[in-house]
Amino acid sequence: MNELKLKNKIAIVTGGTKGIGKAIATKFAYEGASVFIVGRNKQAGEKVVKETQGQISFIQADVSKPDEVKKLVDQTVQQTGRLDILVNNAGVQHEQNIEHTSPEDWDKVMNVNLKSVFLCSKYAIPHMRHQGGGKIINTASIDGYWAEPNLGAYCTSKGGVLSLTKSIALDFARDGVLCNCICPGYIETEMTESYMNAQSDPEHARNQLANRHPVQRMGKPEDIAEAAFWLAIQESNFVTGQSITVDGGLTLGNIDF
Ligand SMILES: NC(=O)c1ccc[n+]([C@@H]2O[C@H](COP(=O)([O-])OP(=O)(O)OC[C@H]3O[C@@H](n4cnc5c(N)ncnc54)[C@H](O)[C@@H]3O)[C@@H](O)[C@H]2O)c1
Repeated sequence: MNELKLKNKIAIVTGGTKGIGKAIATKFAYEGASVFIVGRNKQAGEKVVKETQGQISFIQADVSKPDEVKKLVDQTVQQTGRLDILVNNAGVQHEQNIEHTSPEDWDKVMNVNLKSVFLCSKYAIPHMRHQGGGKIINTASIDGYWAEPNLGAYCTSKGGVLSLTKSIALDFARDGVLCNCICPGYIETEMTESYMNAQSDPEHARNQLANRHPVQRMGKPEDIAEAAFWLAIQESNFVTGQSITVDGGLTLGNIDF
């Protein structure tokens, strides 16, 4: 049997109770890592722990709150002795143009999607530096590259994640801390489901969205988990400050030809 590639590694995955985060946590655990998923909903977290027969642990915290983030990182390190991989994946979407986005909605999107990446990285980096290195993997989005209708706050937050990824990578490469991000296209999760359900004809919207991808389908959380896995293993150790686009070719251009 092949050796497990993440054996003895300790990983934190934020927003790991469902969707992309859950798929990443499951893949990492399957490859031998001890994984701590972070979320606000205790019931959802405990469900994942049960499903994975205790292979994955749950920490209840709001990743937009500095005190809660510091505590969750420090507690993990106290319990395990180290932190090898941090996946900053928690995110929320807000569907409004800028005119109709309230200052509170703007702050919420920025706090969960961008400030949380700053906070989790800020508190994880000292531990990673101390132990000689670590990996930070951020879930950004293709919406960090381009604009989409009625997603001004979301697109801006993800553009920020792309930029923060490069800054962290540059500042801490000498300490062995490598930081990259993944830019998913449309992935089948509750986030896209709620977006589709808000359209006048959800079924039509679903098909239209699938067909916009040159590969003629939406992505699955597992497609993103495979990219995160590659960024987490030592085979990618010469890669830092980069974004990997996993979008079925969506951002290549217009396919109506
Ligand atoms: N689904 C897509 O098509 C898509 C595309 C590009 C990028 N993304 C990004 O991927 C990430 C995961 O998205 P998903 O589609 O799995 O969404 P999802 O809604 O299924 O999951 C989001 C997770 O984040 C958690 N979360 C939200 N706010 C939090 C907070 N304050 N503290 C702790 N946890 C919090 C939720 O509880 C949930 O577990 C997000 O950052 C999202 O922006 C998703």
